[in-house]
Amino acid sequence: MDLEALNKIAVKMVEPGTGILAADESTGTIGKRLASIDTENTEENRRDWREMLFRTQPAMNDHISGVILFDETIRQSAKDGTPFVKLIQDAGAIPGIKVDKGITPLAGRPGETITQGLDGLRERLAEYYELGARFAKWRAVIEISHPDQYVGMTPSRGGLKANNHALGRYAALCQEAGIVPIVEPEVLMGGHHSVERCHEVTEKALNSLFTELYEQGVALEGVILKPNMVVAGKKCAVQPSREEIAERTIKVLKDTVPSAVPGVAFLSGGQENEEATRNLDMMNKVGGFPWKLTYSYGRALQQSALFAWKGQAENYDAAQAAFNHRARMNGLASIGAWSAEIDDTVDA
Ligand code: 13P
Repeated sequence: MDLEALNKIAVKMVEPGTGILAADESTGTIGKRLASIDTENTEENRRDWREMLFRTQPAMNDHISGVILFDETIRQSAKDGTPFVKLIQDAGAIPGIKVDKGITPLAGRPGETITQGLDGLRERLAEYYELGARFAKWRAVIEISHPDQYVGMTPSRGGLKANNHALGRYAALCQEAGIVPIVEPEVLMGGHHSVERCHEVTEKALNSLFTELYEQGVALEGVILKPNMVVAGKKCAVQPSREEIAERTIKVLKDTVPSAVPGVAFLSGGQENEEATRNLDMMNKVGGFPWKLTYSYGRALQQSALFAWKGQAENYDAAQAAFNHRARMNGLASIGAWSAEIDDTVDA
């Protein structure tokens, strides 16, 4: 393993002012996004949408350090024949690849899931490296059960262990292949649970994850963590302030994430665009931690651009303006320099 090379990639992925664009939606998930703007889920529409994003300047040059691609996308080319990988590299960003194969029910643990994709992963990683990927992503999904449920509460210790074991196997294989693993144990924010419960579960999940990474020989200098923020479930009546979210998230990270990890790049997980930016900004304003904290957003970087585009070529410029704006706002949040006033000011 060339740890120096892995560390160099990881450090670049979390360079201040920049973060990661998660454009790795599976064909099914991107279909839902396209359906929200009444656009058909064809290969051409998927390509046009992503080409628009990857050609957006100055966002790509200034605020996107890496792009997570899906298997179809890493092999795809722009309309003029330029491979997407080249478009991304020419913008100074690093191409990455989602390598997990999604979730399936975890046998023996009702209400929990396990992420698939370890079989044949060594061979797939070798191919993705040849195609230009220098980092990868694997997402484990952790669902918190309803607060009224006492029997069969989730997540269970066994469920967390199984998912984090898979993340450890994946991460070790990535590093062997010269690819930086993004490890993503996502505690979902859709439920009724309180912020206290999210705090507790996130702490357990990260604690168990770093134990697995240690036991499986993963070098932390060559890893990026992609966690959820500590928030209340969307359906919980009591919602925390941005100060509480920042304070709890930083505490959980300090309690569980070794300082050898170069960076933490959050998922947005269904937070509103401005909310995801505001919460990241607040954490960086508080400061006092050993890792870089930045974004690896899917929806929170793309949604306004998607609604501006509406699947129509004539809206290309408006979509790029929307993406430029969100990328710039999140770039500011990654250094704690964002404000609502700046966000409300339309870019020149
Ligand atoms: P969201 O930011 O939309 O949650 O997507 C990030 C991601 O890659 C989830 O796996």
